[in-house]
Amino acid sequence: MIQVAVMGHGVVGSGVTEILLKHSEEIKKKVKEEIYIKKVLDLRDFPDSPIADRFTKNFDDIINDDEIKIVVEVMGGLNPAYTFVKSCLEHGKSVVTSNKELVAAKGAELLKIAEENNLNFLFEASVGGGIPIIRPLNQCLAANDVYEIDGILNGTTNYILNKMIKESQTFEDALARAQQKGYAERNPAADVEGHDACRKICILASLVFGKHFYPESVHTEGITNVSLTDVEYASAWGGAVKLIGSVKVTNGKQEIIVAPMFVSNECQLSSVDGVFNAILVKGDSTGDVVFYGKGAGKLPTASAVVADVMDCVTHQSERRNIMWEDGNDENILPFEETAYSMYVLANTDDKESAFAAANEAFGSCEKLERENAAADELAFITPVLKYADFEKAAENFEKCGAKVVSNIRIAVI
Ligand code: HSE
Repeated sequence: MIQVAVMGHGVVGSGVTEILLKHSEEIKKKVKEEIYIKKVLDLRDFPDSPIADRFTKNFDDIINDDEIKIVVEVMGGLNPAYTFVKSCLEHGKSVVTSNKELVAAKGAELLKIAEENNLNFLFEASVGGGIPIIRPLNQCLAANDVYEIDGILNGTTNYILNKMIKESQTFEDALARAQQKGYAERNPAADVEGHDACRKICILASLVFGKHFYPESVHTEGITNVSLTDVEYASAWGGAVKLIGSVKVTNGKQEIIVAPMFVSNECQLSSVDGVFNAILVKGDSTGDVVFYGKGAGKLPTASAVVADVMDCVTHQSERRNIMWEDGNDENILPFEETAYSMYVLANTDDKESAFAAANEAFGSCEKLERENAAADELAFITPVLKYADFEKAAENFEKCGAKVVSNIRIAVI
């Protein structure tokens, strides 16, 4: 029998105990050991839980218990999760976490401590919820030179954008519904402002490129400024607005960004609906590989956590080899040098002369039309420009009297 503790009994944590209890026999057959939940850490009381007697409010009950060999951290947030996880690793306990904030901020450090102590630090559920992506990148695709990853990495924003696209729902209504369904983070700003997707692309980039990518170093835009007008123009253009996390090799550096983008209907990511996530990985041997599934929610995420626990059980003496070094920003392409074609929405009293000014400022643009367009709106797609050049061109364009109200990148995937 192997004894485990679960820190956190929220949406994911309660899913973890549920799966461990419900599938205990099948799990035992697969890992050849019984997995026994010895403690559950949470500040709240859960008198109706079938294991109510094993709850504790005191972390010392876990850290000082030498029989507990694996600790699951599903509390979320950086603190106290970081202190607790570090302490567990230093006390000889392997750790499994779904906490992307923790892995994106402290992954290199915690992996090093785990390696030094011959322990596992596994985090499959931190990216893509129930979708296998960490293990495939680390193992199945390991023989590839992975040169690009593009993903829809946040279920809440995809759900919201989808409701806007398909049902013309307001942003606020769609967010409230996502929160009711338990998809959103405790603080929905992390979802809608792109930070959650940023943490996830940082984890994938760190794994693939072997150096830690810190979220602070990544240009991140959320979806709070995406309007129903933008969504309609994306559709008129032949695609959909999606929040994309992307990392790719450009001029020997890594170009990494999180931003809403127009994704062409020809790209598989455009049809990813609702809370689903999809991650497209480009490898030099495999070509494109797409991972698709539920990126949020109690049981999908918990299933990835429990699978990591099972992996810890079967890799007790020889740890899973998952590592990256600490990083600095030297390998990251400066944001101003990233180049995209842009959708621009502008207000103007004179569409004809404003479009002429757009062609002058940005280079040859493609005008977009939509049904029921307002009399003063002009939408167009610019040629590919480095961001620094786009900003200068937008300033020049506005000299004609038009005002840019929205600009969204066109994804090249
Ligand atoms: N808030 C996250 C999402 C949960 O919506 O994708 C899963 O990480």
